[in-house]
Amino acid sequence: MNKSRIIVSLDFSDPDLAYRHLQRLHPDHCRVKVGKELFTSSGPAFIRKLIKDGYDVFLDLKFHDIPNTVAKACQAAAALGVWMLNVHVAGGREMLRYARDAIDKAPHRPLLIGVTVLTSMSSQDLKETGIQSGTEKQVLRLTRLCREAGLDGVVCSAQEVSVVRREFGKDFCLVTPGIRPAGSAADDQKRTMTPAEAIAAGSDYLVIGRPIIQAPDPLQVLLAIEREIGTVQGKPVPVRPAGGVRQDP
Ligand code: C5P
Repeated sequence: MNKSRIIVSLDFSDPDLAYRHLQRLHPDHCRVKVGKELFTSSGPAFIRKLIKDGYDVFLDLKFHDIPNTVAKACQAAAALGVWMLNVHVAGGREMLRYARDAIDKAPHRPLLIGVTVLTSMSSQDLKETGIQSGTEKQVLRLTRLCREAGLDGVVCSAQEVSVVRREFGKDFCLVTPGIRPAGSAADDQKRTMTPAEAIAAGSDYLVIGRPIIQAPDPLQVLLAIEREIGTVQGKPVPVRPAGGVRQDP
């Protein structure tokens, strides 16, 4: 079973290019994330191809719609065989419960993760949407809702990960983007953490794109990150096996 905590973000619009980059990685050393750009251009066939090649796929489509529509979308994603998928917590308790039920009824059960506040949103942006309490409070409020609805975890920024971990305990999956191995370019990420710092702060899975994909030898970067986080005392990675109940290996 793949125990990698590294999720490589395949941020491409061209599936052939994405696939060429993928061939420089290895499914024993990472999982992969497919978002709206690549999924819109390449569709379910590409996801099946990744899975056939042995990759665990995080389908990052951030579903947000009426409960029935989100439930059906989750069902379709589970049927594709993805390992993880996500929904916007802002869709509300009923939408989250429908998503949970849909996944629980599926023969293959991906991890169901909530997106709280997009890290592109400032407190001022939130105010303009009617939320006065600031980003951290809103993240914690939505994470609580997520937990109550039985989701498996949340996506959270490196800055939030320790407070979320403290508040919601160890049996909750935290997926963290904005990670930069020491010495690599920040690109457009503003507040980053190294892989070791993020794991030490309580993250389960690190979403990393450009520092791996754009490296001359991506596999070497993966192995170096594995060595770096292998030295950090972290809890075992929560895994939901196909058709089974979530457990710690
Ligand atoms: O190349 P880089 O490591 O910055 O890619 C990070 C990935 O994580 C991208 O797909 C980006 O859209 C995603 N992401 C992020 N910050 C968030 C949520 C998702 O960077 N808060």
